[in-house]
Amino acid sequence: MALRTVKDLDLQNKKVLIRVDFNVPIKDGTITDDTRIQASLPTIQYILKQPGASVIIMSHMGRPKGEKKPEFSLAPVAKRLGDLLGTPVSLAPDCIGPEVENMVAALKGGEVMVLENVRFYNEETKNDANFAKSLASLGDVYVNDAFGTAHRAHASTEGVAHYLESAAGFLIEKEVKFFSPLLDNPEKPFVAIIGGAKVSTKIAVLESLLPKCSALVIGGGMAYTFLKAMGHAVGTSLMEEDYIHVAESLLKKAAEMGVEIVLPKDHVVASEFSATASPVAVDGMDVPEGMMGMDIGPKTIAHIVGLVKAAKNVVWNGPPGVFEFDAFATGTLAVAEAVAECAGTTVVGGGDSVAAINKFGFAPKVDHVSTGGGASLEFLEGKILPGIVALEEK
Ligand code: 3PG
Repeated sequence: MALRTVKDLDLQNKKVLIRVDFNVPIKDGTITDDTRIQASLPTIQYILKQPGASVIIMSHMGRPKGEKKPEFSLAPVAKRLGDLLGTPVSLAPDCIGPEVENMVAALKGGEVMVLENVRFYNEETKNDANFAKSLASLGDVYVNDAFGTAHRAHASTEGVAHYLESAAGFLIEKEVKFFSPLLDNPEKPFVAIIGGAKVSTKIAVLESLLPKCSALVIGGGMAYTFLKAMGHAVGTSLMEEDYIHVAESLLKKAAEMGVEIVLPKDHVVASEFSATASPVAVDGMDVPEGMMGMDIGPKTIAHIVGLVKAAKNVVWNGPPGVFEFDAFATGTLAVAEAVAECAGTTVVGGGDSVAAINKFGFAPKVDHVSTGGGASLEFLEGKILPGIVALEEK
């Protein structure tokens, strides 16, 4: 996939309209994780270095559903961006309209302004052409660096690209650089570790990665639907009855293709889903009656660690255990450490596994920690991401 990038644009004396994903977690008005803001800095700083160029930033925050709700304001984000850039950043009271247009007209080279949440208008998520045109009219060129929102065909992520010369920012370029090779003949051994609660939300990614990888590790709650499909007892573990046949068919396909499927060989179980539940070790694939699987056991850990150690490529999406509860975090910690130590190329995507890698402090040792949750999952599913397609070289 060849992308036009910000370096292909002539930005001198231009007002650069840039879409970023500043949908960051905020608690009581304070940003609790500014990774996505930090990740946008290289592109913004590059633009600001071009003589006479100024930056107009668009983003969404949360899902205000077309209403101007103050709790979804980008004000805390504009403030943090200013602190990180070390330069004042103004916040427009809206994202379209005469007041915004006046502010944009007064914007000088080297200045940065943030438009208010684009999702204060339903037209944003509907990818309304007139709304996209109004946004586009604010800039001379368009740069999209919102990887986290690239799976949405919205006015600010896709629509605007129809009305302005457009290109990808450095973050989108980097995300694509790490994810694309995983789907395009990746060097083997390629180990994919996919966890999560439900088969229903991860089946598309399992199907997509199966023909590409050497070993597919299935962990987390969804492993129990697979174990059930193999005839094992799963106790009170998470299980999707409707997906047992889907699990059976994936196991059959894997056997035909010669791809190793790794499921828990042993478990840490508990009688209830709680942080204070007592962990019980179970040697073997069957979960005792009345107990639920909460984490993988030592034999499973050793097997996964061995596979990851020898891998040339590793992708990890979804934790293998309930790592939020300390008593059930051992498996996830071991996987995070193995991924961090792997000499091959390592990519971690998806909210929960990124939270785990950050919690255990291994993020700096991973080649790429994605800023995309849904977007990274859809990329690995092999889906076309509308925000990225709009930036491809024709
Ligand atoms: C995300 O956090 O995954 C992105 O910002 C997209 O948000 P959305 O799911 O509300 O579109």
